[in-house]
Amino acid sequence: MQTTSEIRSLRSQVKAWRQAGLSVAFVPTMGNLHEGHFSLVDKAKTLADKVVVSIFVNPMQFGANEDLDAYPRTLQQDQHGLSERGADYLFTPTVETIYPNGLGSQSYVDVPEVSMGYCGGSRPGHFRGVATVVTKLFNLVQPDFACFGEKDFQQLQVIKTMVRDLSMPVEVVGVPTKRDVSGLALSSRNGYLSDEQKQQATVLFSTLNWVKEQIEDGIKDFADLEQRAKERIAGTGLIVDYFNIAERNTLRRAEQQDGELVILAAAFVGKVRLIDNLPLDCK
Ligand code: PAJ
Repeated sequence: MQTTSEIRSLRSQVKAWRQAGLSVAFVPTMGNLHEGHFSLVDKAKTLADKVVVSIFVNPMQFGANEDLDAYPRTLQQDQHGLSERGADYLFTPTVETIYPNGLGSQSYVDVPEVSMGYCGGSRPGHFRGVATVVTKLFNLVQPDFACFGEKDFQQLQVIKTMVRDLSMPVEVVGVPTKRDVSGLALSSRNGYLSDEQKQQATVLFSTLNWVKEQIEDGIKDFADLEQRAKERIAGTGLIVDYFNIAERNTLRRAEQQDGELVILAAAFVGKVRLIDNLPLDCK
């Protein structure tokens, strides 16, 4: 697997593949890769002839008080894992390469409606940063397919909406969330948790499942379910950021007649903010 931080090398490699009639799938990441990321690479390999992965810790999507500087950077380990999983090309641009004029004067992409609320509410400007960097990466890689995890469900819907609204020539593919045996969704931020906190954090997924079962049993008082879920999570010592039942495509709050739902949750375990979600079909 070749690695480059140069735009020129990336472009000439992708151009050569295109001229040979090969298709390209792309997996954007911020590194510190785990099985969740690798499952996107596995999916990408089934979609196209060549798989490009990027590792870029994007300053534009981090808030002032967030963990940009502390974000784990493990390039050698990531490279090793990616070549084992059969990725073809790794793009690791610097901040100066992606934002040559700094962030202040950067043009941006905003996907306002679907970015509203949930993580967008708690992290102002976050999805603008995500949509902008993903647009730039799409323009650099020009992939036929791009894989994103359902783990970051709102992010996936922001990207799908952006691609549709702006007619971007790429097919966005969502990949189911990878979890550890306890049900905890894999995340680079789990590395900040002690063993005890990891155990505590499992309440997030168990509560999502409990709410899913209630809805499948025909309970449709969503506001009451949300309240009871929050109490259940807070009862184990987590601080709930949000817990909502939403329509799966638009992410507006769910209504009785909606068939495609997603339950979205975020909570703090100590200082670490964890997110999780569970899609469900409602008859
Ligand atoms: P990052 O957090 O590194 O995640 C990269 C991709 O891996 C995302 O699509 C995310 O949803 C997916 N992913 C993370 N954990 C997963 C899990 N447990 N199961 C399945 N997929 C998982 O998300 C970002 O980076 C950035 O916002 C990015 C899109 C790269 C833009 O900067």
